[in-house]
Amino acid sequence: MHKHAAFFCLLLGSFPPKSTALSNLMDSLDVKSMLTSLVSELRFPEVSSLTKRSRKLDTMSNGSTVLWVIQDSYEGQTFFDTFDFYTGVDPTNFLDQQSAFNQSLAYVNSDNKVIMQGDNTTWLPSGVNRSSVRISSQAEYNTGLFVLDLDMAPWGCGVWPAFWQAFYWYRFCLICSSFNRTLGNGVWPWNGEIDIIEGVHDNEHNQVTWHTAPGCNLTATSNFTGTIVQTNGVDNLQCNAFIDSNAGCGVTEWSRASYGPYFDSQGGGVFAMKWDADGIAVWSFYRAAIPQDIVQGEPNPSNWGQPVASLSPLACNITQSFANHSIVFVDVLITVDITFCGDWAGNSYATSGCPGTCPDRLMDPSNFVNASWIINSLKVYKQATLSGGDSNDAPSSMGPSLRMIGLLLCVATALHVMNMAF
Ligand SMILES: *[C@@H]1O[C@H](CO)[C@@H](O)[C@H](O)[C@H]1NC(C)=O
Ligand SMILES: *[C@@H]1O[C@H](CO)[C@@H](O)[C@H](O)[C@H]1NC(C)=O
Ligand SMILES: *[C@@H]1O[C@H](CO)[C@@H](O)[C@H](O)[C@H]1NC(C)=O
Ligand SMILES: *[C@@H]1O[C@H](CO)[C@@H](O)[C@H](O)[C@H]1NC(C)=O
Ligand SMILES: *[C@@H]1O[C@H](CO)[C@@H](O)[C@H](O)[C@H]1NC(C)=O
Ligand SMILES: *[C@@H]1O[C@H](CO)[C@@H](O)[C@H](O)[C@H]1NC(C)=O
Ligand SMILES: *[C@@H]1O[C@H](CO)[C@@H](O)[C@H](O)[C@H]1NC(C)=O
Ligand SMILES: *[C@@H]1O[C@H](CO)[C@@H](O)[C@H](O)[C@H]1NC(C)=O
Ligand SMILES: *[C@@H]1O[C@H](CO)[C@@H](O)[C@H](O)[C@H]1NC(C)=O
Ligand SMILES: *[C@@H]1O[C@H](CO)[C@@H](O)[C@H](O)[C@H]1NC(C)=O
Repeated sequence: MHKHAAFFCLLLGSFPPKSTALSNLMDSLDVKSMLTSLVSELRFPEVSSLTKRSRKLDTMSNGSTVLWVIQDSYEGQTFFDTFDFYTGVDPTNFLDQQSAFNQSLAYVNSDNKVIMQGDNTTWLPSGVNRSSVRISSQAEYNTGLFVLDLDMAPWGCGVWPAFWQAFYWYRFCLICSSFNRTLGNGVWPWNGEIDIIEGVHDNEHNQVTWHTAPGCNLTATSNFTGTIVQTNGVDNLQCNAFIDSNAGCGVTEWSRASYGPYFDSQGGGVFAMKWDADGIAVWSFYRAAIPQDIVQGEPNPSNWGQPVASLSPLACNITQSFANHSIVFVDVLITVDITFCGDWAGNSYATSGCPGTCPDRLMDPSNFVNASWIINSLKVYKQATLSGGDSNDAPSSMGPSLRMIGLLLCVATALHVMNMAF
């Protein structure tokens, strides 16, 4: 709009009025519609700029309006530059960056899609763990809107992927309780863990889970569409990682397109997590249902309807429970270690409907052809609070009064020229 206006004025300045060149140019530029929009902005400047903005304004529970503006964009050829490859002791064989690149278990393809996968080509002798990849962002976050667009999330018998934000993957620590490893500068679970995408075997429903220090509970009456995960038939509302074998508090999505074969067969989609003073909410959209504001890079969660899962601040001090989170992707392929085959993925193996035994499963690479992340982009937006209807972070090249004068001059000149030309 402003570009049009400037362009238009420039044209008026450089062409003599009444020339056929100008008429043709004006026709081809659709001068009338440009003028109409100029005049409407002139007549209702506040309304028109508010309407334009309100597409992006998110309303918080306290009535404040905020704008989500881009903070970090992870995508394409530079994706891996700002992630660290995890190589610590863990119940699977995570590769360092060079080996992962060399073995093509992590790469960016010619379509700029980011691929991370378990080894799906090597036949392994019995008792050898299958190579895989786990990465975490160098950047740490305390609140934000995280939007992950992916074509595929890993799944399959013996596969246990996760996309989460934390310091530590505690389930492993339960087995290897002598370890006290940290990622970033916090000690699990005191800075919390948010599992945004998680499943095991060929699940069809994604599970969102929070693991925290004692004192953070899920509010059952919060507004979300998923189902609270139960322990022994009772809603497990305590996110406290020290109880119930670190089950955390979890919510299973209702849509079967949120994980596994149906998610992938729909061309994937978008997972979004909003973390702010109003709590932590997660939405998922299969590709055909991605809201236009996300596509346009102007996300507005208040347009997205109820989240699939949400942790309300009513029974959880969000700022106290979650801090300094890095972003983690992992693609765990069950390892032959008997204790790990005895953990979640392993425990459930016998009843999962998956064929064979847990250790046997690991030997044949064709079992892992769907164990891949294919990521289009991961975007992190930060909150810009609007005071008095404007924001420091809101895009605005000229002050309103200056813009008005410019528009007035443009339109006056334009109307004058129009009168002469037609
Ligand atoms: C609402 O909450 C936001 C985020 O905590 C804060 O910045 C803002 O000042 C609050 N607004 C009011 C009216 O309290
Ligand atoms: C496979 O992984 C498990 C769990 O980390 C580990 O205990 C075991 O030593 C590994 N096996 C091999 C052969 O590296
Ligand atoms: C890459 O892999 C090949 C064979 O798999 C090996 O010879 C080579 O040393 C590796 N290079 C690096 C940098 O790891
Ligand atoms: C892990 O670190 C925490 C905090 O420093 C400490 O309280 C705890 O005892 C440690 N656990 C182990 C097993 O070392
Ligand atoms: C978060 O990180 C900052 C910077 O490293 C540090 O000063 C702060 O203590 C950390 N906060 C928590 C709760 O760990
Ligand atoms: C759920 O939504 C209703 C209606 O919008 C609201 O009154 C209620 O406070 C919300 N509940 C929670 C826990 O946020
Ligand atoms: C969380 O739930 C437990 C068990 O019902 C309760 O004892 C505790 O007070 C609750 N904490 C909060 C912050 O609601
Ligand atoms: C949450 O915890 C922080 C840090 O401990 C504290 O400053 C704040 O007052 C707490 N908020 C509520 C609502 O209790
Ligand atoms: C991989 O996905 C395809 C398509 O959904 C499916 O037919 C196939 O059985 C899957 N393979 C494995 C090993 O899960
Ligand atoms: C291994 O995974 C990659 C990435 O998803 C895929 O392109 C390739 O076809 C798979 N390999 C086999 C043998 O299926």
